[in-house]
Amino acid sequence: MSRGFACIAACLLLTLTSGCSGGWNVPADANTLRNPVSMNAETIAAARELYIANCQKCHGVNGDGKIPPDATYFYSTKPTNFTDARRVDLMSDGEIFWKMTNGRKPMPAFKSKLSNEQRWELVNLIRVFAHPEGAPK
Ligand code: HEC
Repeated sequence: MSRGFACIAACLLLTLTSGCSGGWNVPADANTLRNPVSMNAETIAAARELYIANCQKCHGVNGDGKIPPDATYFYSTKPTNFTDARRVDLMSDGEIFWKMTNGRKPMPAFKSKLSNEQRWELVNLIRVFAHPEGAPK
């Protein structure tokens, strides 16, 4: 199979699996990234603090994608609901990490705002939002 065709096929698949929102153009090698941060009570607690400070105003108190009802802002693109396990399960850790790193309007890029370690901690927290039963005690 030619490289060009493989690329077109991959892009098509990406568009389909992301519910036709597409357009993130996550490079395939993002999927090969391994999360170096283990999920435990300490790293999740650290991620919750980061989440409250950086993500909650758009992605909601419980990661459900609901901005506060009294908010005076809204976004043309709905912030992702991380409690939608089917959607979150479709993404590799590396893909979530890459999206957080690079952003896509109105989702900000956190490449320079948060360290690599902090962004990996947040990847684990997104998994917990999707599967609260798997939260470390
Ligand atoms: C200003 C509002 C805003 C803030 C702050 C924000 N996001 Fe987002 N985020 C969005 C929007 C809107 C989308 C959907 C973008 C799209 O699909 O084009 C999104 C998408 C994402 C996605 C991709 C989900 C998917 O299904 O493709 C991830 C992962 C994510 N955000 C994580 C975070 C994390 C972690 C933080 C905090 C460090 C954060 N976001 C802060 C608005 C925001």
